[in-house]
Amino acid sequence: QIYPSADQACTYVADAITDLVSERNAAGQPTVLGLATGSTPVRLYRELIRRCQAGLSFQRVITFNLDEYYGLSGDHPESYRRFMQDQLFDHIDILPENTHVPDGLAAKDEVFESCSDYEAAMREAGGLDIQILGIGRTGHIGFNEPGSGPESRTRLVTLDSLTRRDAARDFLGEENVPRHAITMGVGTILDARQIFLLAWGEAKARVIAESVEAPPSESIPASFLQGHPNCVFCVDEAAASHL
Ligand code: GLP
Repeated sequence: QIYPSADQACTYVADAITDLVSERNAAGQPTVLGLATGSTPVRLYRELIRRCQAGLSFQRVITFNLDEYYGLSGDHPESYRRFMQDQLFDHIDILPENTHVPDGLAAKDEVFESCSDYEAAMREAGGLDIQILGIGRTGHIGFNEPGSGPESRTRLVTLDSLTRRDAARDFLGEENVPRHAITMGVGTILDARQIFLLAWGEAKARVIAESVEAPPSESIPASFLQGHPNCVFCVDEAAASHL
């Protein structure tokens, strides 16, 4: 779906989230959301904060974030845990124990267990109802860099050099960007019942066209979303300009 502005795209996605959360709240049931970081979903989170201020309760919402830099504690200013607190969680009535972000400090020999615990927690919560995604210029979703297969699960990965270069500004220099991250796998993401991928601006136009139009392959992990029965790419006109 191509929107004249990112704000309009975010209104559409916020409406879908609002409808589901309201319905589940009325039935006394939880809603499970998969959340993303990066600059792209910030407007969506602002809109969700407004909806909360207007009366939408997040007390029954359970969230799982896609990824976290490996080696960063949740207090680190560039950690994704910190990002989520600042951009969303601290401004809505979600219960802290219902927010999950992969543990960037899991010891090397405990990462595997920590990742399978993360997947188990998602399953116990009932699975992801809605997954929000951004996209990296390498075609990554979460931190599933080129080479990530459709069956991949939550795991420790090595970041692509382009991804580290793109993150250099936030970390005040590429040498400060972590080399590894923990990410949900492509397979984990594909298990979500509904997926919205968001992208704005010319810089994402090439990778959006490849994700939508090229045959699904590990060289553009986002292309595996083509096989999902309920996935919408919500883009602005600039991000759609190479389609
Ligand atoms: C990081 C995140 C991705 C995000 C991407 C794009 O790599 N792990 O989840 O989609 O950045 O970031 P931005 O939205 O700032 O363009």
